[in-house]
Amino acid sequence: MQTAERQSSAQTQERIHALGEWFQNLSLDGVQTAPHHFLGDYPAVKFTRFAHALPDDLRGKSVLDIGCNAGFYSLEMKRRGADRVLGIDFDERYLAQARFAAEVRGVEIEFRRLSVYEVASLGERFDVVIFMGVLYHLRHPLLALDLIHEHVADDLLLFQSMQRGSNDVMPVEEDYDFWQTEMFTRPEFPAMYFLEHKYAGDPTNWWIPNRACTEAMLRSAGFDIVAHPEDEVFVCRIKEQTPESDLTRAARQARESRRAPAV
Ligand SMILES: C[S@@+](CC[C@H](N)C(=O)[O-])C[C@H]1O[C@@H](n2cnc3c(N)ncnc32)[C@H](O)[C@@H]1O
Repeated sequence: MQTAERQSSAQTQERIHALGEWFQNLSLDGVQTAPHHFLGDYPAVKFTRFAHALPDDLRGKSVLDIGCNAGFYSLEMKRRGADRVLGIDFDERYLAQARFAAEVRGVEIEFRRLSVYEVASLGERFDVVIFMGVLYHLRHPLLALDLIHEHVADDLLLFQSMQRGSNDVMPVEEDYDFWQTEMFTRPEFPAMYFLEHKYAGDPTNWWIPNRACTEAMLRSAGFDIVAHPEDEVFVCRIKEQTPESDLTRAARQARESRRAPAV
């Protein structure tokens, strides 16, 4: 390594350190940001298992990366030529890491502090929405999916969730009789585990679906699953029919009741 390169990578190492603990392992100027991640070279090891399921050429496309963390997927989408990439996260520390990573890689990506529950405020739809590794951190996971469908997803959704329980899927019937209860005892019936306290030492893990539940929630929020390239990863396209989220319904009903004449 030349002296100038050594200096630059020593400076990068310092900046990486100053930006706090990293969740995503990126290679910046040859320096790893999270070399001791408990899942290995994460998320690169995961991405290699489903990278083929996404379009190689994203020229002319816009991408929204929700829960972008240090920007691994945002950077990947930019590398595939996406015109506009917006990464949002509600954690300022991760956003600072993401901005630094984009600066080192010399790419233009916008990173904004925003919660998934606030996506309506973007007032914009995106060709590709990435929602990886966020669902199980939410107290209101289905609401988040509804809001994504209702306000920002225009075509493709790349989705991942931690899953526990059965990996089998049973066909879901249109309706069940009140006295029919046997299916609730079957591990492959859609179910989500609620974590009152912590899981893996993390108090932000709230709900973990089994695979059948992941698939059912995606369908119910208005997404068609078009590929399942990795156990936890689903590629979806939006369906025409858009359910109204609870939040939108409540806001509409409040507006309507304000307009209704008093009797
Ligand atoms: C497990 S990390 C996943 C990061 C990245 N998407 C990935 O797959 O590697 C979860 C990320 O979601 C972010 N997050 C959690 N709740 C959020 C919310 N309500 N709105 C936006 N981001 C959120 C966290 O700050 C964190 O960066």
